[in-house]
Amino acid sequence: MEVIIQKNKAAAVSLAAKLIAREIRKKADLVLGLATGRTMESLYAELAVMHNNEGLDFSLCRSFNLDEYIGLPPEHPGSYRYYMNEHLFNKVNIDLRNTHLPNGVAEDLDGEGERYEERIEACGGIDLQLLGIGCSGHIGFNEPLSSLMSKTRQKALTPVTIAQNSPLFDKPEDMPKRAFTMGVGTILESRRILMLVTGREKAQILAKAVEGPITSMVSATALQLHPATVVIVDEEAAELLQEKEYYHWIFNNEPEWEEFRV
Ligand code: F6R
Repeated sequence: MEVIIQKNKAAAVSLAAKLIAREIRKKADLVLGLATGRTMESLYAELAVMHNNEGLDFSLCRSFNLDEYIGLPPEHPGSYRYYMNEHLFNKVNIDLRNTHLPNGVAEDLDGEGERYEERIEACGGIDLQLLGIGCSGHIGFNEPLSSLMSKTRQKALTPVTIAQNSPLFDKPEDMPKRAFTMGVGTILESRRILMLVTGREKAQILAKAVEGPITSMVSATALQLHPATVVIVDEEAAELLQEKEYYHWIFNNEPEWEEFRV
């Protein structure tokens, strides 16, 4: 795992967007794993700008989102399909037929997880998975005690997650209490992972995720097992990290990051 600390949210978002753009330019039919949430909004806005100004081409990209609420149809403004259309898909030239989310209103809810895994596999697996982190330590909606080998399935959301996300609904009580989520095991199978974390309210959980012991109580700690994970954070989120100086040294000296240093 590598941790890159940027001075503020704008710089963190800009670096994350540049890394994604580099991967798309290297492989036009990249299979992207996508996340939703507040952190991703400015990242998707930046990718849309890169599409408009630099011709960043999504036409052959495929995408799989991490999660979707159970019971919300795609046209519901609280659904993650709606979010993705609004924030990214309608702003770039991705082919909507190549974009995938678990179906939260599938007739056969029990079979949906397995079908989703099969679709990911049929596309050759995820090349680059984007992640945020929730205050419960979740990645996707893998709440505490999610098996580190879990695959896409239904999950009951914790009170912490409900408190975090219900303000995003017009009527907070409308937020579903269950969701489909890729498993921790699904996420770990991605070839590369990019986690973006900003803001002081994430400092405590980020320190646990990155520098704490691996535990299913904090799903994000499983990323320590992944061979190609980059965590981009702003200074506020990095506040409680112990090895900041080392992370800065790596970013400022390793040739891999040369093109991204300003
Ligand atoms: C959403 C997802 C979640 C969010 C996390 C952070 O698809 O996978 O794990 O990334 O809850 O959300 P924000 O960015 O709203 O703090």
